[in-house]
Amino acid sequence: MPGLHGGSMTQNAAMPLIAAEHICVRFGGPEVLHDVSLRVDPGEIVTIVGPNGSGKSTLLRALLGIVPVTSGRIARADGLRLGYVPQRLTLDHSLPLTVRRFLSLPIRVSDGAATAALARVGLPGVEGQQMVGLSGGQMQRVLLARALLVNPQILVLDEPTQGLDQPGEASFYRLIAEVRKDTGAAVLMVSHDLHVVMAASDRVICLNGHICCEGAPRVVSSAPEYRALFGLGTQGALALYQHVHDHDHATPHDHSHDHAHDHGHPHDHHPEKEPHSHA
Ligand SMILES: Nc1ncnc2c1ncn2[C@@H]1O[C@H](COP(=O)(O)OP(=O)(O)OP(=O)(O)O)[C@@H](O)[C@H]1O
Ligand SMILES: [Mg+2]
Repeated sequence: MPGLHGGSMTQNAAMPLIAAEHICVRFGGPEVLHDVSLRVDPGEIVTIVGPNGSGKSTLLRALLGIVPVTSGRIARADGLRLGYVPQRLTLDHSLPLTVRRFLSLPIRVSDGAATAALARVGLPGVEGQQMVGLSGGQMQRVLLARALLVNPQILVLDEPTQGLDQPGEASFYRLIAEVRKDTGAAVLMVSHDLHVVMAASDRVICLNGHICCEGAPRVVSSAPEYRALFGLGTQGALALYQHVHDHDHATPHDHSHDHAHDHGHPHDHHPEKEPHSHA
């Protein structure tokens, strides 16, 4: 297991990089996340899909320790190096900030490392440019460059291609695939792009306040829970799929319905180690 420190979780070869066990999150109101368990193992690509407001960003932020959980437990491998690309970056337009300075926030990096990271994401020589002057695609690449500077064992990407056109999106995902190949980093991402999800993920988790279904992309795309969420009312690729509405998702936080939960766990190497069961 490259780069993994032995640690508090276990010395087990199948030790996850990051794991959530039965976590719940609320912000004063109803639960945003209910009894969510997941794990990400070294090198795998896990994609979270779900409607707007279903708690995807909250789940990532809970895994990162930015959002506190109200119950349950999050475990991270000791010394885990994690690169995070947030869904949104709000920049103060009145405050000058060059790409080079941004890359040293919050941890100062050498000029050589900054130059190499920018070259890696296909943006050589932009060090002196203002952050607010970047295009959407350039901004996402700079965010990825910053995430790569920690030499991550896991990249956590929250809708990293939001706002990009289709070629921009395709080339960004190609870049992610290259980075993963070069570094062996695991990828945990939120994506709305079904093509990407189906082509690139080892495992898909369908979230709607709780985990509706999960498994190999093909298994999930044919699960009634998934189709109920994405079969109707969504634009783009997701709407290409036939709708079979035998599963009511009137509200994101309705946990009362009964699920078939055919997960078809694709990870034959440790199916018994899945920390959760939705049966
Ligand atoms: N810091 C916060 N304080 C209060 N409520 C919050 C906070 N963060 C998220 N929420 C609420 O939690 C719910 C889930 O939000 P979240 O951003 O996780 O959804 P999402 O699935 O990422 O949505 P989207 O697809 O639009 O990005 C929403 O109702 C949101 O208003
Ligand atoms: Mg979000």
